[in-house]
Amino acid sequence: MLGKNLIRIRELNAQDITDILDQAEAFMSILDRDIKKVPTLRGKVIVNLFFEPSTRTRTSFELAGKILSADVVNISKSTSSAVKGESFKDTALTIKSLGADMIIVRDSHTGVPELLSRYGPFKVINAGDGSGEHPTQALLDMFTIRRRKGAIEGLDVSIVGDIAHSRVARSNIYALTKLGARVNLVAPPTLIPRFVESLGVNVYHRLEDIYDKTDVLYLLRIQREREKASMFPSLREYATLYGVSQKKLANFDREVLVMHPGPINRGVEISADVADSVSSLIEEQVRNGVVVRMAILFLMARKGD
Ligand code: CP
Repeated sequence: MLGKNLIRIRELNAQDITDILDQAEAFMSILDRDIKKVPTLRGKVIVNLFFEPSTRTRTSFELAGKILSADVVNISKSTSSAVKGESFKDTALTIKSLGADMIIVRDSHTGVPELLSRYGPFKVINAGDGSGEHPTQALLDMFTIRRRKGAIEGLDVSIVGDIAHSRVARSNIYALTKLGARVNLVAPPTLIPRFVESLGVNVYHRLEDIYDKTDVLYLLRIQREREKASMFPSLREYATLYGVSQKKLANFDREVLVMHPGPINRGVEISADVADSVSSLIEEQVRNGVVVRMAILFLMARKGD
């Protein structure tokens, strides 16, 4: 159930996810207006606490909060007192004292949003924790797929790339399976987490294996920054075997929609001709991120403490 905090998709059920997507749909008309501003969260203080780099998530949360008339404050690690040795707990207590109603947190360590929630009464939204989860990315992805395909139930969604280090993959696997999609994972064995089949997904190691079972092709970046050792010989070899080009897209037996959470590495997991093609939903995902995050802020602000 959507509770006081949003930390993991794993804790939501299909109805919770659908409620968020429906609310986002209801907010779409605000973005078409000349003046994109409604008073819904006037007087609320939202802190974006980003201890790991971000372009899309941080900016879209900031825009979402501002469109809903909240006061939004951004804190990044490099400009915070964390660089002077302040502990995470003391940073959290400081932000609490400054009157935050909600904190949106990103950190390279799994579990930080949960830890932060202990220092409340503020509400916490996970904007990506290490290799843990990235729930708001999965929600905007569900919204994007539902808008294009009408429904998620019954679709074949193939996730290709660095599944082992990907919080996006984990949150999307939970969201897609809860909503009734069939999920295929494709990667070299070293980039597939052990026991992942227990989540109700199919595992493959060759792109050819999913040519006849894909409606949505969800590509992931190789996260070299999270690898403890090299998981495959070279990026060039990875690109040859798993990178998706227009030539490879032509082998799929259906018209495939291509998605990617960004940032993309052109020429590695996705070729420029695919990234810039009509099959690509990458820019649509980014646009939808604002309205889905508006829905999340709105629904969470209504939740009692
Ligand atoms: N998809 C995503 O989380 O992108 P950013 O790292 O730019 O926020």
